[in-house]
Amino acid sequence: MDVQLAVSLGRLQLPNPILVASGTFGYAREMAGLVDISRLGGILPKTITAQPRAGNAPWRTVETTGGMLNSIGLDNDGIERFIEHHLPYLAGLGVPVIVSIAGGNYDEFVAMATRLQGQRGVAAVELNISCPNVSHGVDFGADPAMCARVVRGVRAACDLPVLAKLTPNVTDIVAIAQAAAEGGADAVSLINTCLGMAVDWRKRRPILGNVFGGLSGPAIKPIALAAVHRVARKVQIPIMGIGGIASIDDVMEFLVAGATAVQIGTANFYRPTATMQILDALPSAIASLGAGSVAEVVATLSVFAREQPLGAPK
Ligand SMILES: Cc1cc2nc3c(=O)[nH]c(=O)nc-3n(C[C@H](O)[C@H](O)[C@H](O)COP(=O)(O)O)c2cc1C
Repeated sequence: MDVQLAVSLGRLQLPNPILVASGTFGYAREMAGLVDISRLGGILPKTITAQPRAGNAPWRTVETTGGMLNSIGLDNDGIERFIEHHLPYLAGLGVPVIVSIAGGNYDEFVAMATRLQGQRGVAAVELNISCPNVSHGVDFGADPAMCARVVRGVRAACDLPVLAKLTPNVTDIVAIAQAAAEGGADAVSLINTCLGMAVDWRKRRPILGNVFGGLSGPAIKPIALAAVHRVARKVQIPIMGIGGIASIDDVMEFLVAGATAVQIGTANFYRPTATMQILDALPSAIASLGAGSVAEVVATLSVFAREQPLGAPK
């Protein structure tokens, strides 16, 4: 079966559209014995920050119906240790590495992107402007003007392709995606986790140490699909679909709804081989639609053909 799997998101070229989401694949070493990493379309290591962070108090994760909540709080070693210790390993995998960065302010975002410029193995940066688990984590993802400014600043500071990862915890994600596009983003990544919480009523306590956390897994797939589709109908730049993806059917739904590539997150925890199974099934799924490439099926949902866009649901 001769199906073209390579896709481009702006200036970012990927061998195939199946990537792994930040925070769910460690720094890849942890997963090396479980999956053939070289087959992946790309890897997003855990978000890094300018300085090391210890993260939030336990508990940091809890299983929920159809998903999980996490409030890790961007526990990471900081950008310098990442460059020194994790990046050489990641760069040797022969897979595009998209480095997820979270600045505490505008200057930190720009400085981190500048530091990553020219580092061997870095294919792109993903701006995590959507973390619900740190204070000010979503500031840049909740305000269109701030989003456009930080994307523009990073874009001006480095030559790397720039992805903006957006939060669903806003009134109008389309407006934020539009701002990211205006700022010069190569693509938007949709979505980060949905704000949630879990309660132990007997103890009358929240289960997570941070009270609130981010909901992920199959439970959020319909939210993510709606976000991808709404943005695809209004915004011109490519979309990286994320949220509850665990099977080839999930992947195909996101592609048809408007995503050019996808990231697998929570599924890596409960079925680490999910990405491999998806990659095995992808060519025949594309061919079953009569297409010869992934790009041919992107944004082909029948409603795209209508004259009048549906717009947001009433
Ligand atoms: C334990 C955990 C840690 C995460 N850490 C990050 C992170 O550091 N940076 C980030 O951008 N997203 C992080 N995410 C969000 C995922 O990348 C993804 O956007 C989200 O989980 C939705 O996809 P999924 O339903 O496939 O998991 C994390 C998710 C989980 C479950």
